Amino acid sequence: MTEGFNAPISVALTGASGAQYGLRLIEMLVAAKHEVWVMVSKAAHMVIATETDEALPARPERLAEVLEKRYGATPGQLRCFAREDWMAPVASGSGAAAAMVICPCSTGTLSAVATGASNNLIERAADVALKERRKLVLVPRETPLSAIHLEHMLSLTRMGAVILPAAPGFYHQPKCVEDMVDFIVARILNQLGIEQQLVPRWGDD
Ligand SMILES: Cc1cc2nc3c(=O)[nH]c(=O)nc-3n(C[C@H](O)[C@H](O)[C@H](O)COP(=O)(O)O)c2cc1C
Repeated sequence: MTEGFNAPISVALTGASGAQYGLRLIEMLVAAKHEVWVMVSKAAHMVIATETDEALPARPERLAEVLEKRYGATPGQLRCFAREDWMAPVASGSGAAAAMVICPCSTGTLSAVATGASNNLIERAADVALKERRKLVLVPRETPLSAIHLEHMLSLTRMGAVILPAAPGFYHQPKCVEDMVDFIVARILNQLGIEQQLVPRWGDD
């Protein structure tokens, strides 16, 4: 952990629909003064370009600059790692983040994590999180789900990971898409034990 920041959390965006969830999560973690380590899969870049008006830079250094500026991160607070940067801290148990969130999580990455494939840094970082018994939250978005998806979710749950589907509720009466995004991000922050004011907890006013 770098002095001056709260424990590092790694956030991986993969190629499922809904990069907005992952981007909003990064924003909230920066605001909560956590060190944030970001990984974005190749497919995630494609999905972001398809679903939003923005095209995030592919080069990790440039991506870090863009995200740092956008979310007002302190220099050094936010780092981005390349697909095969095996020297990144997340690639090893000795450097692993306190927690990892894959958000959104494609069914492809879900399957790779469930089977320990470790073919890219995101999959390896998740493998490390599991072996080190760190909090690992996966936010899949697919519908309907096949037996393969469900079996992988069950085995990951049995391994200690948290499957938190991108399935926003409506009982907070969302007025816009951002409210629905915040519903999921609030649930992720609750899982990480980070205070959030996005959505009141059930029973609170
Ligand atoms: C526009 C677009 C939307 C996609 N939406 C989903 C999705 O919602 N869920 C999913 O599991 N895969 C989705 N995919 C497919 C994945 O991106 C694809 O399986 C990819 O190989 C995942 O790679 P990754 O896990 O390395 O990011 C989508 C692809 C595109 C181009």
